[in-house]
Amino acid sequence: AKNVGILAIDIYFPPTCIQQEVLETHDGASKGKYTIGLGQDCMAFCTEVEDVISMSLTVVSSLLEKYKIDPKQIGRLEVGSETVIDKSKSIKTFLMQIFEKYGNTDIEGVDSTNACYGGTAALFNCANWVESNSWDGRYGLVVCTDSAVYAEGPARPTGGAAAIAMLIGPDAPIAFESKLRGSHMAHAYDFYKPNLASEYPVVDGKLSQTCYLMALDSCYNILSHKYEKLVGKQFSISDAEYFVFHSPYNKLVQKSFARLVFNDFLKNPSSVDAIAKEKLQPFATLSVDESYQSRDLEKASQQVAKPQFDAKVQPTTLIPKQVGNMYTASLYAAFISLIHNKHSTLDNKRVILFSYGSGLTSTMFSLQLREGQSPFSLSNIVKVMDVAGKLKSRHEFSPEIFVETMKLMECRYGAKEFVTSKDTSLLSPGTFYLTEVDSMYRRFYAKK
Ligand code: ACO
Repeated sequence: AKNVGILAIDIYFPPTCIQQEVLETHDGASKGKYTIGLGQDCMAFCTEVEDVISMSLTVVSSLLEKYKIDPKQIGRLEVGSETVIDKSKSIKTFLMQIFEKYGNTDIEGVDSTNACYGGTAALFNCANWVESNSWDGRYGLVVCTDSAVYAEGPARPTGGAAAIAMLIGPDAPIAFESKLRGSHMAHAYDFYKPNLASEYPVVDGKLSQTCYLMALDSCYNILSHKYEKLVGKQFSISDAEYFVFHSPYNKLVQKSFARLVFNDFLKNPSSVDAIAKEKLQPFATLSVDESYQSRDLEKASQQVAKPQFDAKVQPTTLIPKQVGNMYTASLYAAFISLIHNKHSTLDNKRVILFSYGSGLTSTMFSLQLREGQSPFSLSNIVKVMDVAGKLKSRHEFSPEIFVETMKLMECRYGAKEFVTSKDTSLLSPGTFYLTEVDSMYRRFYAKK
């Protein structure tokens, strides 16, 4: 199979959200802390009728319907998620309800879990399957689904929720450059979920930022080395049109791109202009460890990187800023933002993606884009996803309702024997929702 990659995409996020500016005031944070400090505009959250299973049922049904894919044509289904609803039963098995109806139970794959990285693991598994001897000619389907919620405190505004489905096959408009890939995997306690009774993570915010940036450097170096071996020249930012980052919050994305610019400068000082060189030179002698701690370097490199950030990263930031951290779906929501904003100019362009999951696992990889042929074309993907329409039809909630919802969800997490309100007034037709969890913890869903 040639040009294996993503043929079709759809995204779902809850219609319920809270403005960061409003949350900021409610939390007593200083003005601008969430909006400028973290760079976030709005945050989606699940109410008691939605969860990672309902969101993935919704997005998979929608993708199959809108691209007219026969459910029998799916041969592999992989889910990436870090939202634990069941310690044994995979989310994938819930999704099988869609396929069993059509008599298709011959579908390989289960869930992948490691913080925000599970979606990337699922994506690679599907792509590798299509490229392998085991491939039976059918499509792979990848689902990234998460509800990111934090306990009250500084991490709470970095929540979010969404599910994304991606159809995988050959001759894709979004194809992997499989040889251009660098991973960095290590042991760290930056963000983890050891308390199985709670949906909230234990998080060392500062450490998670440093781990993220260290992983970024490492992956960028490996990818650059591979590029050099392959192409015979040094890799730099100018060799890709766009850079897409896992986006816990926008400020970290700004810092990440600045870090790549600093990496390019260290590798080859003449790769940046004279003014940039002058600004970055004082930091050239810092040790690597010092460089992660230096606020001055952070500021200088962000300043130097700003024009390139606006051109190569800004178009990827729309959904992550509006919806928040979607964990496994965050990177792909950023990528979707790029397609949404720039689809008509992406033909023959290289896009670099960086996936990070705390704990930690990370990969930087390359995609090559083409317009493709309908229904598997960039312009049709944009039409199907209707990002603008979905963002516009959301309902903003007050901080009081948001906090109340979080409290209710805390009680419901891991609970049995309850029925939900079944209030679907805010959901659009075709959305799945949770109706009941019975005395055996069995979960029941209905479709609006
Ligand atoms: N106006 C403008 N900016 C402000 C204001 C203000 N009034 N107040 C603060 N800021 C800035 C700070 O200067 C800082 O920006 P800087 O780093 O560029 O200097 C930023 O806002 C954040 O403020 P801090 O006080 O540094 O951080 P805080 O204690 O609020 O925590 C954190 C932020 C660590 C991101 C927290 O939200 C968190 O733990 N989130 C979850 C962990 C996370 O997302 N990690 C990322 C990788 S791992 C993953 O994906 C889960």
